[in-house]
Amino acid sequence: MLKTQVTEEMKQEMLKHGGFTQDKIAEHYDELSSHYEEIYLTAGYHDPLKCAELCKEIIGDNAPNAQVFDMGCGTGLVGQYLKERGFLHVVGVDASAGMIEKARTKESYEELHELFLGRPDTFPKEFHNRFDAITAAGILAEGHLDNNVFDEMLVALKDKGYAIFATRTMYLEQYSYGQKIKELEEQGKWQKVKEITFDRYDQLEEAVGRFSKVEIKGYIYQKI
Ligand SMILES: C[S@@+](CC[C@H](N)C(=O)[O-])C[C@H]1O[C@@H](n2cnc3c(N)ncnc32)[C@H](O)[C@@H]1O
Repeated sequence: MLKTQVTEEMKQEMLKHGGFTQDKIAEHYDELSSHYEEIYLTAGYHDPLKCAELCKEIIGDNAPNAQVFDMGCGTGLVGQYLKERGFLHVVGVDASAGMIEKARTKESYEELHELFLGRPDTFPKEFHNRFDAITAAGILAEGHLDNNVFDEMLVALKDKGYAIFATRTMYLEQYSYGQKIKELEEQGKWQKVKEITFDRYDQLEEAVGRFSKVEIKGYIYQKI
């Protein structure tokens, strides 16, 4: 039994949703863009809301002035939640044109760009040292971004800016995100401000493909 109504059609879509690789990531999400929010939100995907809440918590009353970079913005859930919290200057980037088109309809982003992340050496100059906060929900995952994305975060942030991101607890070790985060801390590049723990896909009573209840860590790190 599922706690929420997952139709047979959605179940079939959920079963297709896996086997990610970076070389096919844009095509994969282009294809899924029309079902993405229905699948994720029904299953209980809280990462975008948690990231937006952390961003508001740390930026506070400066929300209307803050420059925010939403990495791997997808269909724009983070941007939507940021807009609801008073953020007016949010730039979204994603590898998938299909996902970006969905994000555009939300009218939450000041700018949206098709950009393949994870290549710090060619990371566009226009984004260097520009942002007060970065949000990254759902991009630290199997077949998604590797550790290079943390270097890009530091390049994109202003001094004292905040990186806000979430990932499965198990991926901290499995994809050595935890090791890289700690290395950057030891190198004096950033410091931890806050860590939270919550569950994802908690609306499913039984697993559907790769969707089953799993623990997530959310973080705020401040660039030094
Ligand atoms: C699970 S979705 C998360 C979307 C959104 N942040 C959210 O929380 O709903 C992952 C997104 O990361 C994007 N993505 C994956 N690898 C990427 C890369 N190398 N560069 C840019 N975007 C990437 C995908 O296109 C997809 O939109």
